[in-house]
Amino acid sequence: MAWEKEIAKLAELVRRDNCNVVVMAGAGISTACGIPDFRSPGTGLYHNLAKLKLPYAEAVFDVDFFRENPKPFYTLASELYPGKFAPSKFHLLLKLLQDKGKLKRVYTQNIDTLERQAGVEADKVIEAHGSFAENHCIDCGKVFEMNVFKKKLEEYNAAAKNAQNDDLWTRCDECEGLIKPRIVFFGENLPKRFFDTWDDDSEELTKLGKKSNTVVIVAGTSLTVYPFAMLPEEVDKHTPRVLVNRECVGDFKANPRDSDIVLETSADDVAQKLVEELGWEEELQTLMTE
Ligand code: OAD
Ligand code: ZN
Repeated sequence: MAWEKEIAKLAELVRRDNCNVVVMAGAGISTACGIPDFRSPGTGLYHNLAKLKLPYAEAVFDVDFFRENPKPFYTLASELYPGKFAPSKFHLLLKLLQDKGKLKRVYTQNIDTLERQAGVEADKVIEAHGSFAENHCIDCGKVFEMNVFKKKLEEYNAAAKNAQNDDLWTRCDECEGLIKPRIVFFGENLPKRFFDTWDDDSEELTKLGKKSNTVVIVAGTSLTVYPFAMLPEEVDKHTPRVLVNRECVGDFKANPRDSDIVLETSADDVAQKLVEELGWEEELQTLMTE
């Protein structure tokens, strides 16, 4: 298969002594964990949310819609809530790269926290679309602890069995506003840390130019949601980009570069084959059984 030949090129880049890997990830790196992605036809969350009669699928991440009807978001949160899933091979590859001193950063759109669960250090992970770790009132902005929403979600799901859960929403003790996890909804800003870190990282790449030892791996994302989808476009031309995805997407499709490496297959297949090329199989195996 074409991608299997191409992977030798990626292995060669990673093998360099002081190679730095920057990863930009999306839902496709977690489908092997049993978490659906958003846009895959048939299995994606947006397809399956149709059952909830949303005016349009993305309404589940729309604050005004949430204010009127929090139910679809509660349904989605129940499916995705961290703690139920174990990291994939690809997540563990990130940890292995870190152990080898080769992981610079992981920018992720995912809210499943599996990068951190795999052992990637907090300062290396940028959760661009937020997480369930913090909550705030959508009216007055008051900040609440993680367990405030989690507890209500559990009550909501317990009550769902007898369909008496239609008003079990978490509300603010100051103003009765709805409380929502700090997951970035459409129209909301991404965390400041996302922009600040990318400014630093991309500036460094540009400054180093040809001298940079960085390789950027974009994995498991349809690159349809901005501003995240802008990252691969902004990678300095001297830095090789790799796409690991079931389909060719985004800037790799619109503005392909001669130095791009496109691996159209599953993220876990790439993780497996790459560790074989690098002779890291045993270490990955150990991480998988830990
Ligand atoms: P999408 O569902 O849009 O795209 C997932 C991509 O991963 C698709 O191109 C799939 O073909 C590919 N894919 C699926 N399984 C794969 C696998 N095992 N290996 C490799 N590729 C695979 O998901 P995202 O791009 O992450 O927003 O979506 C971006 C944002 O849209 C999400 O962060 C979410 C949503 O609105 C929020 O959560 C706020
Ligand atoms: Zn409030």
